[in-house]
Amino acid sequence: FVLSAVVAANCLAITPAMAAEVEQTSVWSRQQAEKVKLTEETTAPKIDLEFDLVAPDQWVWDTWPLQNRDGSLATVNGYRVAFALVAPRTLGWGERHTEARIGMFYSKNGKDWTYAGIPYDYDNAKGYMQWAGTSMIDEDGKVHLFYTATGDRENWDYNGWDKRAVQRLAKTTFDISADKNGVHLTNEGKHEIILEADGKHYETIEQADSPIITAFRDPFFLQDPNTGKEYIIFEGQAGSNRDFIKPENIGDEEYRKTHSVPAGAEKYNGNIGIAEVLDEDVSELKLLPPLLESIGTNHQMERPHVVVNGDNYYLFTISHTFTYAPGLTGPDGVYGFVGEGLFGDYKPMNESGLVIANPKENPYQAYSWMVLPDQQVISFINEPKDENGQVKFGGTFAPTLKIKLDGDTSEITKEGKHGEIKPFGANR
Ligand code: FRU
Repeated sequence: FVLSAVVAANCLAITPAMAAEVEQTSVWSRQQAEKVKLTEETTAPKIDLEFDLVAPDQWVWDTWPLQNRDGSLATVNGYRVAFALVAPRTLGWGERHTEARIGMFYSKNGKDWTYAGIPYDYDNAKGYMQWAGTSMIDEDGKVHLFYTATGDRENWDYNGWDKRAVQRLAKTTFDISADKNGVHLTNEGKHEIILEADGKHYETIEQADSPIITAFRDPFFLQDPNTGKEYIIFEGQAGSNRDFIKPENIGDEEYRKTHSVPAGAEKYNGNIGIAEVLDEDVSELKLLPPLLESIGTNHQMERPHVVVNGDNYYLFTISHTFTYAPGLTGPDGVYGFVGEGLFGDYKPMNESGLVIANPKENPYQAYSWMVLPDQQVISFINEPKDENGQVKFGGTFAPTLKIKLDGDTSEITKEGKHGEIKPFGANR
């Protein structure tokens, strides 16, 4: 009896590492988000208004580099490769979202980029438009492009588009080669939908009742270096089983005694979703409960991505001032959460979550930051202002920033060139 009791007790002792293996949904609460403030460590330098355009006839925004299956940055015959959302500059700045396609870029030195056009045939692609994603080159040299298929092509019409911009996760593949004339993507594979909102953990467009467009988008491929398991992480909103604010979404007991939640806050119901990859080709997926939710706090946790540093899992996401729930505010920026495993109990970095934000006097100068595995952070120039408050639309790569991650704190340490991605990692 005594022996078995000891064994049972040992079995019940759950270490942090074991807990991190259990699927659980962490919370970004109102109490934590209330602490968001710009500090010296989190404020990006002002962007100079004299910038060159990486693709002069295109608006260029959300950008992601080609990564190896293990997440490290890929080099193909000495070239860096990146993908970005593109739309012709003949369209208005605001119109670009509804005509978005994915363009390909390459660079020999990681600083000077060549725009190589849209690598796929639009007739084959899914969605009326193609929104953000990620890309991975596998062991056989196949490029897997994950993206968001947005809008139903058959029934598309512009009026009230955001209410009908249904989003699904899609993918295709290419062969890749590189020679003195640049990088070439050939042998385009079939485009397939790999994941759709289930309505339970993740809201469908029919269920959406928020003032802001609903999301099921921005797939990020992740191979967990500690378990070898693979996942797709994405932006979602809470589905039918979580369309209310729980006490922990507000804060701790002490905080809840004095904090009253404004009406309508429950409609700001962002989450970061996750699905387990079941096959080599990343086309069979099993939807899991979200990694993190911001119900009652913020409507959008866009372009979520993970950087693993030893036992620390950093979950980054971008968010806007206008997506904060009533009674809360914060800058357009990249926010970070750190956990002890992929399913760890994520805590906001720097107490509030804020990792990089635009400077106060230029709050919309850049957006869509992506923290790369060595903590270089890319983004695009969005809507910077001159001294007279005149906005100059960007639509090109912003200066790369470097951050230092130290446990649950971070600091911006350096500014690089526009779109710079320093060479490192395995050569192919
Ligand atoms: C972020 C974002 C993404 C989306 C894209 C659409 O900038 O909102 O979530 O895929 O822009 O343009």
